[in-house]
Amino acid sequence: MQALDNILQDATSAIHSAADLKSLELIRVKYLGKKGELTEYLKTLGQLPASERPAAGQKVNSVKEAIQALIETRSVELNAVQIENQLASESVDITLPGRAQSIGSIHPITKTFEDLRIIFSQMGFSFMEGPEIEDDYYNFTALNVPPLHPARAMQDTFYFNDGLLLRSQMSPVQIHAMKKLSPPLRMVAMGRVYRRDFDLTHTPMFHQMECLMIDEHVSFADLKGLLNQFLTAFFETDVAIRFRPSYFPFTEPSAEVDIGCLSCQGKGCRICKNTGWLEVLGCGMVHPNVLKEVNIDSERYQGFAFGVGIDRLTMLKYGISDLRSLFENDLRFLKQF
Ligand code: DAH
Repeated sequence: MQALDNILQDATSAIHSAADLKSLELIRVKYLGKKGELTEYLKTLGQLPASERPAAGQKVNSVKEAIQALIETRSVELNAVQIENQLASESVDITLPGRAQSIGSIHPITKTFEDLRIIFSQMGFSFMEGPEIEDDYYNFTALNVPPLHPARAMQDTFYFNDGLLLRSQMSPVQIHAMKKLSPPLRMVAMGRVYRRDFDLTHTPMFHQMECLMIDEHVSFADLKGLLNQFLTAFFETDVAIRFRPSYFPFTEPSAEVDIGCLSCQGKGCRICKNTGWLEVLGCGMVHPNVLKEVNIDSERYQGFAFGVGIDRLTMLKYGISDLRSLFENDLRFLKQF
């Protein structure tokens, strides 16, 4: 009888301290299982004198029932705890603020495209496009650069096998424009051009804008006035402008245009290599040979044209020192704009 009381006592404290259903089940097996302590005890009943058996049997049964009841109660408790834990771990905290969407910024080159579009539409120019894959005729011959002309070496061109090439300048769009439209005309084309060049200030692909105006009585003074207005509007400040005589096959006379250095106001600094000037574009009066090629009467009509590097304009405006950073898409760089 004492032994049975001890079993009940041990089982009671074990059941109370069971931390989860798994350990509770181990306790059940330990006391009530086929080889459990109580079961083993039942087997020894037969050895008792017949007179003691009923009382002993009753005692075993009551201990067994007591343990079963304790296990049942504890298992209800543990079940509740388990459900609570599960609910806590699987719950979604709807009070957490959502993850904000990070908003991109406009690429500085795109911004320049937009600025140029506004400036030139206000001046009455229309926008045209041309193919990035051109043939020799549009990229060179029609622009007064016949085969074997030394000016072809000015632009290191990417050629395909079949006489096609990646346009090395935006000037061929002039030819498309003049073949499609008749004067008077004012057009601008912006796009990608390609050259075999790669260093701090050159990338194999870059962007140019080409501008063309054809009408009666168009003079170099008109070109000068337009460039003045354009550069002042673009850089949002009064910029000094100077023309240097130059050579382009498709214009005569030709000039290169410099603006007064934006960082030192012409005093001389690292950016302008101490000259006080920054080269920004090439221009000139359209060569009569080009007009003849597209059947425009060069006695009646004249025109001017210029070509400008869009990436270079962007670098000058925002003080970007490495051209390549415009194409690397480093978010730390792009997020500044
Ligand atoms: N196409 C020339 C270049 O890529 C730039 C240029 C110079 C365009 C003079 C013109 C021009 O229209 O008149 O270097």
